[in-house]
Amino acid sequence: MLEGSAKRLHHVSFNLRPGTLDQVRESIDRAGTPMIEPPPGAVEDGLWIRDPDGTAVQLLDVAPAPARPVAEVLTNAGASRQRIGVAQWREATADVMPRRLGHSLLFTAQPARMVAFYTEVLGLAVSDRIHGDLVTFLNAGPGDHHIFGFVKSSHPGFHHSSFEVPSIDAIALGADRMRSKGRDAGWGLGRHTIGSNFFHYNPDPWGSWIEWFSDIDQIDDCWVAGDWDVPPHLWGAPPPQTFLSNLETRREPSG
Ligand SMILES: [Fe+2]
Repeated sequence: MLEGSAKRLHHVSFNLRPGTLDQVRESIDRAGTPMIEPPPGAVEDGLWIRDPDGTAVQLLDVAPAPARPVAEVLTNAGASRQRIGVAQWREATADVMPRRLGHSLLFTAQPARMVAFYTEVLGLAVSDRIHGDLVTFLNAGPGDHHIFGFVKSSHPGFHHSSFEVPSIDAIALGADRMRSKGRDAGWGLGRHTIGSNFFHYNPDPWGSWIEWFSDIDQIDDCWVAGDWDVPPHLWGAPPPQTFLSNLETRREPSG
């Protein structure tokens, strides 16, 4: 985070899959997308370009930081009996801290152009869509159902970032902690439809959202994207009215 006069998304950053730098550079050249200077305040490494909304995008040719190691979470759900002789209530709160950033969603007024850029130029793929182009989820190949995506809005902005925690208990404990500190109760606990992850969201001080998640769908190379007309949650309370409010100030047109 950088101090600024108004809330604004500064840049997004991706670690390229090892060995794909040249391929991505060629694809950027083919698309006629110019390289830019790193925006003031950013770590200057890597390639820098702008997406169709004018957001600065950093492409790093370094291995991503490994997720924080966590213990296996044993369950006695469905037909599985993995936890024998262990009182779960004495274990469930032992580790509630995030292990990695899972995904971020941005607001955009032009989802078709943004999806085309991030898929055709940068190599992400569509995982699923809800209500036409209202929400588009993108993946980076085998792994989490989505690592990036877009919510249709009147103008660009930052919607949420989501951090994986070790269990559903960790999500609920984080939500309890926010409530106990007087923060807005947010949205959750629930299980999402698209991606299937358990979730809880809290608003950040600037009107964007922070999500904790656990148990997100893992996709493979055979995943087929679908168009769905479903609520965002499989169960739990519906989202607050403000969930899709874009409080980011409109930007001056950038080059
Ligand atoms: Fe999310």
